[in-house]
Amino acid sequence: MKKTILVTGGLGYIGSHTVVELQESNYNVIVVDNLSNSIREVTERITSITGQPVKLYIADINDDLSLSALFKKEVIDGVIHFAAHKAVGESVQNPFKYYRNNIDGMISLQRIMHQFHVRTLVFSSSCTVYGDTGHSPISETHPVTEAISPYGTTKLVCEQILKDLCRYSGFKGVILRYFNPVGAHPSASIGELPLGVPDNLVPFITQTAAGIREKLTVFGNDYNTADGTNIRDYIHVVDLARAHVKSLDYAFRMNQDYEIFNLGTGKGHSVLEVIKTFEQASGMVLPYVIGARRTGDVEQIWADATKAVQLLKWTPQYNLLDMMKTAWKWQLALAESGKNESATENQET
Ligand code: NAD
Ligand code: WQD
Repeated sequence: MKKTILVTGGLGYIGSHTVVELQESNYNVIVVDNLSNSIREVTERITSITGQPVKLYIADINDDLSLSALFKKEVIDGVIHFAAHKAVGESVQNPFKYYRNNIDGMISLQRIMHQFHVRTLVFSSSCTVYGDTGHSPISETHPVTEAISPYGTTKLVCEQILKDLCRYSGFKGVILRYFNPVGAHPSASIGELPLGVPDNLVPFITQTAAGIREKLTVFGNDYNTADGTNIRDYIHVVDLARAHVKSLDYAFRMNQDYEIFNLGTGKGHSVLEVIKTFEQASGMVLPYVIGARRTGDVEQIWADATKAVQLLKWTPQYNLLDMMKTAWKWQLALAESGKNESATENQET
């Protein structure tokens, strides 16, 4: 019989791609999302890809009453927990917003799961928990003792709470540490809807190419790397979404309490390489200038993803050119539908 998965934050960037992959695999999906960084129309867009309706509860995971009503009504076998705020800079300005939504939200969700005897949980963590490692590739055994932002703290604390519940309360947890998710579904029906001016490189590039931003500033070219710019492990969001399906399969059959996986391609690319690849993908010349270093940026980091490849039987299919092509196709689709600035423009309250 098909298992039913509750996906928190399932209308967001990574969540929506994961709902597609779950529906295309052997899972029933229920989404809970408060639309704080997404729009309801994403359900129709998912359906246009999979041909299946999306069962949506518009609710906040911090709202115990709504969440327990959902668990009372539905038979849930497992949960993938995406719902969180994710802007590193904002978390420095407003840490309590992050502690409240990300940490309280996780606790609230787990309390209700516990109450309703649901024990399988896949959690969205981040390579930010590694901080500035000074060397790469980084494997899951690298110590994660000090976060480099309040956002990072929320991921570390949530990882720790999940580990506790796995050790002492019968939970089965899979912690996924994403590197840099980019790109969009090849159909260009779903993708990232950045709020306002994007912090992240790829949405900034595509918005610049689309004429929404004047030019890209490369944050420093005096790092100790081949071309002087930072190196990151960019991973296509569809590959990332597929890893969630594999992680669920794994969580349902694993004997141990929890497992941690890095999700990256295992390859590092510099900022200038990303720009060049985008130019190749789009056939455009991207206006950019070299600026100062951005405070808090790590010089270079990429994943040792061999554990995920071996245990989850997962291999990323998309390369950097595919990532740029799909990101650009999505930006063009957004422009066509008049939704190219931000998710909030179309947000329901
Ligand atoms: P996103 O903002 O696109 O999606 C998050 C979704 O959760 C949104 O639809 C939002 O409306 C919803 N949400 C937020 N708080 C909620 C709440 N309290 N109740 C119900 N719904 C809520 O973000 P994303 O890029 O898809 O990221 C998903 C997860 O992956 C997050 O936990 C994020 O921290 C983590 N992550 C993201 C990245 C990245 O670069 N995108 C990297 C590493 C980890
Ligand atoms: C990538 C590279 C910038 C914008 C962040 C979070 C991390 C994770 C992923 C959630 C860096 C450079 C960027 C620009 C630039 N998210 N850049 N000009 O910083 O690796 O990671 O997103 O968990 O926690 O910190 O990603 O896309 O912001 O930057 O030169 O306008 O692009 O300096 O080297 P980052 P990013």
